[in-house]
Amino acid sequence: MFAKRRDALMQKMGARSLGVWFASPVRLRSRDTDHVYRASSDLLYLANCPEPEAVLILRPDADEERSILFVRPRDKEREIWMGRRLGPERAKEHYGVDAAYAIDELDTKITSYLLGCEKIYHQLGDSEANDRRVIEWKEGVKRQRRVGKVTPDHILDSRALTDEMRLFKDSAEMEHMRHAAKLTAEAHEMAMAMTRPGTYEYQIEAMMHYHFRKNGCLDFAYTPIVGGGANATILHYTENQDALKDGDLVLIDVGAEYQFYAADITRTYPVSGKFTDTQRRVYEIVLAALQAGIDACQPGNRFDDVHQAAVAVLTQGLVDLGVLEGDVQTLIEEEAYKPYYMHKTGHWLGLDVHDVGGYFEEDGSSRILQPGMVLTVEPGLYFNPDFHDVPEARPFADIGIRIEDDILITEDGHENLTAAAPKSVADVEAVANTKTLF
Ligand code: GLY
Ligand code: MN
Ligand code: MN
Repeated sequence: MFAKRRDALMQKMGARSLGVWFASPVRLRSRDTDHVYRASSDLLYLANCPEPEAVLILRPDADEERSILFVRPRDKEREIWMGRRLGPERAKEHYGVDAAYAIDELDTKITSYLLGCEKIYHQLGDSEANDRRVIEWKEGVKRQRRVGKVTPDHILDSRALTDEMRLFKDSAEMEHMRHAAKLTAEAHEMAMAMTRPGTYEYQIEAMMHYHFRKNGCLDFAYTPIVGGGANATILHYTENQDALKDGDLVLIDVGAEYQFYAADITRTYPVSGKFTDTQRRVYEIVLAALQAGIDACQPGNRFDDVHQAAVAVLTQGLVDLGVLEGDVQTLIEEEAYKPYYMHKTGHWLGLDVHDVGGYFEEDGSSRILQPGMVLTVEPGLYFNPDFHDVPEARPFADIGIRIEDDILITEDGHENLTAAAPKSVADVEAVANTKTLF
């Protein structure tokens, strides 16, 4: 699978080119301890290589050694302290590349690789240090022009090629995403069940993390959001520090990362296990908007059709609630819903939670959905009187509702990867506040 991706990429890179992909840097957390390492998504995609300091080289023109990995060498002392290393001796077979060398050989070997190349692809703009290194390589081989050699004139952003490839998931990726979605749906159901008035937001976060780690996930796919009451109206509330109150809703936007692939689910439910009439009215509108958005997830439709379908339902709903007044079509054109729905309805999903891939066609129109794309659908309504004190919205004060599913576009429609997480009023009420898990 990885060799196939590399071959497809080298085809796009074309003759007389070289590609280089650097591992993500290790990031300091405090004093002398680091953050948990998360590998570069492109390096994972192209070589399944999660090692810090690794560098992948692709050479479309080479007769042999078209794909080369440079990795950390074996080092007894470092390995005793910091963990095992594969080393170049084992990396070739392990990663299925044509050759592997120790990372300290890269600066020497790169010269011969660059001779005869006209362009270098790398993640230009991602890291100043890497940009500088590639420029130094390019300048370093330039003096060989005096003896008639061709050396590169162009440095290009490799992401122009890989982002487009990553937008279309292959079968191995789909399997990982289905599994991330399954574990995430389970964790959401367990969260609903364990919720009581007085449960702390961080206790729910901890339980979900436990479920993910227990099942082999490295971590969350993104910083978790667990917000009760008015906290749910803050889109990226991540403090997760408050106790949940009887009578409030709680919004949970949490996803697992499995084999480096993200799931991204939001569910909102009553802390008590029963919606109030007011909460249910708003909830049913968001749920209908989600359904309209999911229905629009068809090959041949456009990415923006999903947003427009959701906005139409939300705007009609705001009129029905008495929050907005007037002709629905006009209100949509005027974006009158924006104080209550200020974000877009979804994004691509994959190795990154907000995954790569363009949202527009070359002519500037919204991207046409095609089989293999995975996107989220995540409408919401948020009423926080601190942000907009509108008398008509006061009955809904402190209600924040978002419901989010992950949708794979298929040949004949779509597959909802996260359908297993309860979301109808009946299903949510049947699960919420029902079981003691610990
Ligand atoms: N959790 C991030 C998002 O839903 O986009
Ligand atoms: Mn989300
Ligand atoms: Mn999302």
